[in-house]
Amino acid sequence: MHMPEETMAKMEVKTSLLDNMIGVGDMVLLEPLNEETFINNLKKRFDHNEIYTYIGSVVISVNPYRSLPIYSPEKVEDYRNRNFYELSPHIFALSDEAYRSLRDQDKDQCILITGESGAGKTEASKLVMSYVAAVCGKGAEVNQVKEQLLQSNPVLEAFGNAKTVRNDNSSRFGKYMDIEFDFKGDPLGGVISNYLLEKSRVVKQPRGERNFHVFYQLLSGASEELLNKLTLERDFSRYNYLSLDSAKVNGVDDAANFRTVRNAMQIVGFMDHEAESVLEVVAAVLKLGNIEFKPESRVNGLDESKIKDKNELKEICELTGIDQSVLERAFSFRTVEAKQEKVSTTLNVAQAYYARDALAKNLYSRLFSWLVNRINESIKAQTKVRKKVMGVLDIYGFEIFEDNSFEQFIINYCNEKLQQIFIELTLKEEQEEYIREGIEWTHIDYFNNAIICDLIENNTNGILAMLDEECLRPGTVTDETFLEKLNQVCATHQHFESRMSKSSRFLNDTSLPHSCFRIQHYAGKVLYQVEGFVDKNNDLLYRDLSQAMWKAGHTLIKSLFPEGNPAKINLKRPPTAGSQFKASVATLMKNLQTKNPNYIRCIKPNDKKAAHIFSEALVCHQIRYLGLLENVRVRRAGYAFRQAYEPCLERYKMLCKQTWPHWKGPARAGVEVLFNELEIPVEEYSFGRSKIFIRNPRTLFKLEDLRKQRLEDLATLIQKIYRGWKCRTHFLLMRKSQIVIAAWYRRYAQQKRYQQIKSSALVIQSYIRGWKARKILRELKHQKRCEEAATTIAAYWRGTQVRREYRKFFRANAGKKIYEFTLQRIVQKYFLEMKNKMPSLSPVDKNWPPRPYLFLDSTHKELKRIFHLWRCKKYRDQFTDQQKLIYEEKLEASELFKDKKALYPSSVGQPFQGAYLEINKNPKYKKLKDAIEEKIIIAEVVNKINRANGKSTSRIFLLTNNNLLLADQKSGQIKSEVPLVDVTKVSMSSQNDGFFAVHLKEGSEAASKGDFLFSSDHLIEMATKLYRTTLSQTKQKLNIEISDEFLVQFRQDKVCVKFIQGNQKNGSVPTCKRKNNRLLEVAVP
Ligand SMILES: Nc1ncnc2c1ncn2[C@@H]1O[C@H](COP(=O)(O)OP(=O)(O)OP(=O)(O)O)[C@@H](O)[C@H]1O
Ligand SMILES: [Mg+2]
Repeated sequence: MHMPEETMAKMEVKTSLLDNMIGVGDMVLLEPLNEETFINNLKKRFDHNEIYTYIGSVVISVNPYRSLPIYSPEKVEDYRNRNFYELSPHIFALSDEAYRSLRDQDKDQCILITGESGAGKTEASKLVMSYVAAVCGKGAEVNQVKEQLLQSNPVLEAFGNAKTVRNDNSSRFGKYMDIEFDFKGDPLGGVISNYLLEKSRVVKQPRGERNFHVFYQLLSGASEELLNKLTLERDFSRYNYLSLDSAKVNGVDDAANFRTVRNAMQIVGFMDHEAESVLEVVAAVLKLGNIEFKPESRVNGLDESKIKDKNELKEICELTGIDQSVLERAFSFRTVEAKQEKVSTTLNVAQAYYARDALAKNLYSRLFSWLVNRINESIKAQTKVRKKVMGVLDIYGFEIFEDNSFEQFIINYCNEKLQQIFIELTLKEEQEEYIREGIEWTHIDYFNNAIICDLIENNTNGILAMLDEECLRPGTVTDETFLEKLNQVCATHQHFESRMSKSSRFLNDTSLPHSCFRIQHYAGKVLYQVEGFVDKNNDLLYRDLSQAMWKAGHTLIKSLFPEGNPAKINLKRPPTAGSQFKASVATLMKNLQTKNPNYIRCIKPNDKKAAHIFSEALVCHQIRYLGLLENVRVRRAGYAFRQAYEPCLERYKMLCKQTWPHWKGPARAGVEVLFNELEIPVEEYSFGRSKIFIRNPRTLFKLEDLRKQRLEDLATLIQKIYRGWKCRTHFLLMRKSQIVIAAWYRRYAQQKRYQQIKSSALVIQSYIRGWKARKILRELKHQKRCEEAATTIAAYWRGTQVRREYRKFFRANAGKKIYEFTLQRIVQKYFLEMKNKMPSLSPVDKNWPPRPYLFLDSTHKELKRIFHLWRCKKYRDQFTDQQKLIYEEKLEASELFKDKKALYPSSVGQPFQGAYLEINKNPKYKKLKDAIEEKIIIAEVVNKINRANGKSTSRIFLLTNNNLLLADQKSGQIKSEVPLVDVTKVSMSSQNDGFFAVHLKEGSEAASKGDFLFSSDHLIEMATKLYRTTLSQTKQKLNIEISDEFLVQFRQDKVCVKFIQGNQKNGSVPTCKRKNNRLLEVAVP
């Protein structure tokens, strides 16, 4: 079955270190238990990269000598907030347990990491710190505290660690660090205590080992500039204090580490100048090693030492600000003050070297202590609130070298003390637990090393006390006298051996060299060389040197040697190194006892610092002296396994019907029911107050097997139920969906049906309503028609009645009246319309609107005529008198000649001027004018036709009121004068010519020559005027004859003037020809 990841993760919570176990994760469960199985189990696990194994709550850690992928942030998350036995053994599980009981149960914790050099203690302590840092509080301030705590490690490691044959990064000091937390579990700060730095390493290192890392780091990593400043050279061989055979360590980059250290110093809070001062002291120590001495004979026969080459000394003094002569003197003399007396003695070469090395060692170890204090200053908690404390102890492991000296003695003493506290807290605690839990129990024997501790630290006859006594004793004191003393005091101690004590007992034990003693430590026998014990314990620095240092200009160096201040001279001896150490170890033990211990026991799998190698002999030795087997035995003396009732019930409750799935009562009762049900033999377990104790691991494994089996069944059951549940929910869901769908569908169908019924009802309704309405309409219409018919009938009827009544009044003239009215109306309309349609006032305008009605025809014509007359009158009214005269004349002419004489039409357009010749103006005619008194009507030149031949001559024709005159054109002389009364007739043709004849009264004077025949261009005008003048003068109408043949009287002859159609030969001018005396022919063209 496929499960979602979340479910898987939840199920995983219920795992146990018993799941997927390689070997056994907890040695307590080892079956059978003996050294071989123990080692085999460790080896098996080691081969599978399981480097951690439990003994109850103690963690055994086997150094893998290679990096394993088990410290990742994911792993941290895995172990965070999980129960100790839930996951496979890990240092994180222990850290988590410690941190949580610190945070949640308010119990101060300490983590004790033990094991021999190179077993991985320092690494383990760093893992613990990094785990705690990862899981404790977050936030900028907290992070800074964490960072400072973590970064204190590289600084201290650079100055306090060195490469040894056992470990490339061996801690040469003991370190105990208290990490302080507030009530929430957020880190507040820390305090570091350091224990006994192995300062002898500064001046001398065993073969294959190095000095402290910092010297190599400084020379490899410092910039040229810095090296110049420190007057150092980048060459290890230049310095006597640096061993050459292993200056380079495989896989270690000193230069890079130097940068890391400087960076860490900065993070921890060192000021730049502080860091520089520290490096200056380091440089001074290095350079001290290069000062060499030579003997110089003195007068008293003794050798006095002198510095060989003062150059190095000079540089040191420049670097440290010490007066060169003061230092030089301090290397040559020694001043002893006793009872206010100062005695100065010279130093020989050996003493000078001793003084130099003592100075170097002191300088360095004091610098180291200063560093620790300086770091403490930075990381100390800033608040005064109550703190919870987690102590991490990483102290040098048990050491057995070829040559073991004072340092090893001290170190091993410390380890004895730790073992002691382990025994006290663990083995004792185990047995106490049974008592606490009320379990019946038989005491188990284990080796208690209290006796060895006593051998060393006993105040009256302990080795350290003896040493102090020797050191303080007046007289010559040597290492040999010290050994003698030991031989006296400790000879009977079962853990102490020496050649002397031995020889006294067994006569001869050549295995023990001279000047040595052997202690049978809990972890093995160690042979110590007494040489140097007294010196090292005294830890003497000549006062001249400390005073010289105090006088240094270098503030750091000055502060390192407060006893050099002459004002504070103290004649009391300072406490010896041994007693100092004893005291600090005692405080440490006291401190640890107040805390809840957590153990990490480190085991070194091989001596080669190599991965994958598991040396059984080596491991066997370690588990022996660590007492691990005893640890297991005690742990399971009565009962191999114990567990609180709640988790036990939780883990196995599925094995019994009553407890599965839930147990309602107290957990203990549940476990009882469970164990009864499983028929576990009663002697196999016991009920404690809060825990169940299982005697035999087999029982536990049986339980585990059952559980595994049951889990499979349960998985099937869960699967079954889950599948059933899934199907059922699916089915229910489907059913629910089906109901919803059906409901919706029904609703929809009903809605549809309802809509249909509703629309049908509406149709029917509308039809019925329509039908009803139509019916009503029909009725109403019928009713209305009836009413209308009645009205019509009534109207007709009334009309008939009225007409019948009024007929007598109407019939005679109604029609006429109407007719007249209509006519009147039409006429009125006609006139009104005519008014608007009038044509223009021009007399020649022929337009006239059409007649609208036939019966108005005559009126229309009459109106047209009247209008025309009226507009003619209007036109005439504009004329002047002269115009009037002219028109009268023209009218006269028209009456006389129109349609009679062909010439007439051409004359209509000519104005009648009368006096064409202007006689009054022309002087030629003055005589003529004077002769005529009357008004001249016509004055014109005419052609007088010669009566005889028909030829013409020009004559002036003058007409006055009474006379007609002819005058010569040139002379103006009157040729003839005819009174008008003598003129009888005027003749002319009907044609288009200007010929006319003036007939004279027969018998008159003028008629003697006969009638006149003239031709003129103005014939019509002349004839008209002549007619009018004659009429006005004589009141007789002048006879005007128009004929194409007429007779004229020429003298005596009557001559016929005949007008013929002439040919065109003579052009357009009529020609006159006398044919004979009876005929005068005029040819008219
Ligand atoms: N958990 C680990 N994983 C990987 N390598 C480790 C582990 N523990 C130790 N080592 C390796 O072993 C070396 C020695 O470890 P460490 O310095 O912790 O020993 P130690 O017990 O402190 O020794 P000493 O007593 O000399 O200080 C480390 O430098 C590292 O290379
Ligand atoms: Mg270490």
